Amino acid sequence: MTRRADIVGWGKYVPSRVLTNADLAQMVDTNDEWITSRTGIKERRIRGEGETTTTMAVAAAREALTVAGMDAAELDLIVVANSSPDYLLPAPANFVQHELGASCPAFTIAAGCSGFVYSLVTAGQFIATGVYRNVLVIGVELISYAIDYTDRGTCILFGDGAAAVVLQPSEDGAGLMAFELGSDGGQAHHLWVPGGGTVNPISQDVVDKREHYIRMNGQEVFKFAVRKLSTCLRNITSQAGVNPADLDLIIPHQANLRIIETAARTLDLPLDKFFVNVHKYGNTSAASIPLALVEAIEEGRLKPGDTTAMIAFGSGLSWAGAVVRMGEAVARATPQEQVALA
Ligand code: UT7
Repeated sequence: MTRRADIVGWGKYVPSRVLTNADLAQMVDTNDEWITSRTGIKERRIRGEGETTTTMAVAAAREALTVAGMDAAELDLIVVANSSPDYLLPAPANFVQHELGASCPAFTIAAGCSGFVYSLVTAGQFIATGVYRNVLVIGVELISYAIDYTDRGTCILFGDGAAAVVLQPSEDGAGLMAFELGSDGGQAHHLWVPGGGTVNPISQDVVDKREHYIRMNGQEVFKFAVRKLSTCLRNITSQAGVNPADLDLIIPHQANLRIIETAARTLDLPLDKFFVNVHKYGNTSAASIPLALVEAIEEGRLKPGDTTAMIAFGSGLSWAGAVVRMGEAVARATPQEQVALA
């Protein structure tokens, strides 16, 4: 049997600072009614004093290691999904590895909101080949640093956060069953940061034009998202030999409740099959899918033997989906209880 990557530990971290719709209404021309009805978002978390991409990632990772009953020294690989690094060089994975006290290889995958699923699938390949046994995958985003808080079309959507999983080869067929990774670079300009890279290096002019912030063509991304949620879900479930209706839970990228509702209608699936926490955190990019996964486990929505599909989409434009069967580990106590026991 192929060695599948099974989720044996999980953890999350979100900053305590809350930015509500009412707060945003003080900053730009918007209101709670518009944001709630168009996106489903009520509040998001924004980094506080001293919080960085690395500190958030490490906090989530420590919780995941505790749940897995594993020491960082036992890790064979760390993969960090992130597009909001502490520094341009090196990538966050190296800082995270050092802070955790691990001595294994570590690298970062920058695939926007699809980054966590890209990273999960990448980690899964190392486990399938038998090269590595204990792999930590983190999705972390301090995306508020790239948000223009004078642009009401983007600033209402995004928030900061982190979540992590520990993977190990399964003994019983649980784990990563099927996946699809995708990229359509021809649509890159619909969601990008036009300034600050090598084509348009940071300069006073870039800053004056606010080109160092995220620019988004919301309607185009919306259409892409609905299309990809539906087609990717059909592709990965057919690959896994599972009927979409038989999935126990679907974990979509938390970008906009309307995207999830539209996809549910397109797929003719009930909305309660989709896990939703976008109202609490907004779009946390690479942290969105793992934050939802961890909360689904903590809330008892995923039990041993359950099958879930995670589907992400975002800048690139990119998409990524994975079907995962949950192993025995999810029957364990919540991370909070585990941390208290440790
Ligand atoms: O990870 C992937 C990341 N991105 C996404 O998933 C985003 C996908 N797109 C979306 O979620 C939606 O397109 C948005 C929430 C961004 C926008 O919703 P929409 O229903 O597509 O609105 P719209 O852009 O068509 O704008 C409708 C109106 C416009 O006013 P006019 O031109 O009709 O007078 C906007 O200027 O709403 C206005 N508007 C706002 N009004 C109040 C745009 N943003 C706001 C706002 N508050 N925050």
